Amino acid sequence: MLDFSGQRILVAGGSSGIGLATAELAAELGADVTIASRSRERVEAACRSCAHGLRGAVLDLADDAAVARFFALDEPWHHIVVTGSQVSMAAVRDLPLSSALDAVDSKFWGFYHVARHARIHSGGSLGVVAGFLSTRPAAGRALMGAINAALESLVRGLALELKPVRVNAVSPAVVDTSMWDSMEPSVREAMFERLRASYPAGCVGQPLDIARQLLLLAATPYATGTIVTLDGGASIA
Ligand SMILES: NC(=O)c1ccc[n+]([C@@H]2O[C@H](COP(=O)([O-])OP(=O)(O)OC[C@H]3O[C@@H](n4cnc5c(N)ncnc54)[C@H](OP(=O)(O)O)[C@@H]3O)[C@@H](O)[C@H]2O)c1
Repeated sequence: MLDFSGQRILVAGGSSGIGLATAELAAELGADVTIASRSRERVEAACRSCAHGLRGAVLDLADDAAVARFFALDEPWHHIVVTGSQVSMAAVRDLPLSSALDAVDSKFWGFYHVARHARIHSGGSLGVVAGFLSTRPAAGRALMGAINAALESLVRGLALELKPVRVNAVSPAVVDTSMWDSMEPSVREAMFERLRASYPAGCVGQPLDIARQLLLLAATPYATGTIVTLDGGASIA
């Protein structure tokens, strides 16, 4: 059983989905947890929804100066998990360039900004959610694959640069979160149904599946430069 008692954990992007599941589980396991994302309303709603108590902060990971100020103001963290990103998925020739740049700003540079400025205790960890598209490309998802591959490579390099802080990533396939809320519900459900049939595990991911793995990596002193592909078998299907 993991025990994070006495440890301060930041989940950057923790107001929904994988981040909120990670924050809730860490709080249940005894951590003093802060979630941070752009919308004060979403942060406050997430804090209210958690039975184990969460602190909240407003932070846009794409804003390097804001990230620097955020970490300058606070004590070092034991663990930081970065799940925040707002990405648009479409084929390269269909996606407006501004949306592509926003996706890179938010998901790649957001994590990079945290890596630049975060103060983390020796032996603590920095984790991020990348994605299995890094190694398993799909038409219409080329940009996401490139961002995820860049993140995974950055994680390996940072594990060398930031030691004794450990740096790891979890790379899921499709997880049932609000990331897919912009799809028309019947289209989204049809996609999930098709994926359940094609993934060897017979299911799409749930936020808690990824949260457990992120916290296991955080709690494992031997884990650094580690990329865990947690994808229901999608990579081998
Ligand atoms: N769901 C999947 O199928 C899947 C698969 C592979 C990888 N992933 C990755 O997993 C991570 C988490 O996604 P999710 O599925 O949990 O999505 P989600 O439910 O949409 O959560 C995204 C979170 O990120 C925050 N956020 C967005 N942009 C931000 C920014 N610039 N600065 C700070 N926070 C920001 C959002 O809150 P605010 O709006 O308040 O900022 C929200 O809390 C993402 O990086 C995603 O690419 C997801």
